[in-house]
Amino acid sequence: MSGYILAIDQGTTSTRSMIFDHEMHIVGTAQQEFTQHFPDSGWVEHDADEIWQSVLDTIRKAVEKAGISIGDVTAIGITNQRETVVVWDRNTGKPVHKAIVWQDRRTARFCDELKGRGLEPLFTTKTGLLLDPYFSGTKLSWLLKNVDGLKARAENGEICFGTVDSWLIYKLTGGRAHVTDATNASRTLIYDIGENQFDDELLSILEIPRAMLPEVKDCADDFGITDKAVLGAEIPILGVAGDQQAAVIGNACFQPGMMKSTYGTGCFALLNTGTDRVQSKNRLLTTIAYRMNGVTTYALEGSIFIAGAAVQWLRDELGFVKVASETDALAKQADPQQRIYLVPAFTGLGAPYWDADARGAIFGLTRGSGPAEFARAVLESVAYQTHDLLEAMQKDWGGANSETVLRVDGGMVASDWTMQRLADILDAPVDRPVILETTVLGAAWLAGSRSGLWPDQEGFAATWRRNHRFEPGMAASERETAIAGWKDRVSRCLTHRS
Ligand code: G3P
Repeated sequence: MSGYILAIDQGTTSTRSMIFDHEMHIVGTAQQEFTQHFPDSGWVEHDADEIWQSVLDTIRKAVEKAGISIGDVTAIGITNQRETVVVWDRNTGKPVHKAIVWQDRRTARFCDELKGRGLEPLFTTKTGLLLDPYFSGTKLSWLLKNVDGLKARAENGEICFGTVDSWLIYKLTGGRAHVTDATNASRTLIYDIGENQFDDELLSILEIPRAMLPEVKDCADDFGITDKAVLGAEIPILGVAGDQQAAVIGNACFQPGMMKSTYGTGCFALLNTGTDRVQSKNRLLTTIAYRMNGVTTYALEGSIFIAGAAVQWLRDELGFVKVASETDALAKQADPQQRIYLVPAFTGLGAPYWDADARGAIFGLTRGSGPAEFARAVLESVAYQTHDLLEAMQKDWGGANSETVLRVDGGMVASDWTMQRLADILDAPVDRPVILETTVLGAAWLAGSRSGLWPDQEGFAATWRRNHRFEPGMAASERETAIAGWKDRVSRCLTHRS
């Protein structure tokens, strides 16, 4: 059987396009970084047109590297940075403002005000999220209030809102489709994840006109056909999922109780809770893991803002390593007698603390503390933060138990030392897959299976292979002391107790 799948992974700092053959092998890949705009303290923006151009460029390069022509592509899958808000003119396709990125904190005070009005339980019950600037809703509200005439035009149906997937589909289809998928919709703070629809009450609180919203589809669905004038061929877009959900799919976490954790700049852990929509009592998010054939599968999600970014800090700010991969070897040389903890709250703390004003600290330094001890503290901080998430998940839902295995992916999982430490601290096995490109694979599988080129869910899950299982091996008393030490140090960094 011939035919190829094109998967686009539009991330926070770069765009990647990959071509997979019918046996799910990557045969062509291209990556391009784009500009990060920081117009004010805590503000982060992207140029949506530059993102679109990076998608076009990487598609062309990936197709060329694969040695195929664009007409050989059977279907397209898209995965993307979530929550980032793009607003554009429905007729001209021109963005009305720079995209406001998920990391942007400009609506922090607005979120506080909404919380002050006692509205958080309402938002949480309907959307599974918290009133935090992280999500799209308050950012969209900000644009409607701050861009002249935007609200009236949006009410007239002249304006489209979308997350990045939606924006790319609009452009790829030559402006014919204004759609998104259920996973991306579930991050907007205006989508009721139980009713599977945008919610009028939340829209009215945030003053968002319904006329600007996209149609929400399943993850494997007909999202539109590319315009020949845009890509040079008419190709169906058949798969869409936000990047962390795509990693759940790519890691074949299809059964309730299965969990994945992606270690990039930050870390996002998602636990499949099946058709159970578990409401967290421990400040985790409830989100849509995927929706297929109209059936919604839910997940508990824990988001940590700093994981790999702490290794970058060690390299770029402290200069203790030249390349990130040296950190592993350095950590191994650390003096085991020294108990140093790094709390990497460089941009506040995410789940389960949600303390935007907390800042980082390092504890336990002695005259003998050097690069090796710092390296160990950096890598251990990733393990401790993941432990916080797993512990909250276990409190929230009985399906997360002693049987839980963590499937990992992302750049940091190349470090054996970190993965072993993770297994030790979690007291759970950690499985590293053979294919580490799980996010892009997840998007490709959605399109591949929908087109009939690739296996169905069961067949795909059977192809998942691990490269290594890290078994926990730390004595219980040592583990408990280490975790108690971490919790104590975190508590000293918090500005509030949530
Ligand atoms: O929720 C934000 C997340 O989707 C961003 O992921 O990999 O683009 O940093 P990434």
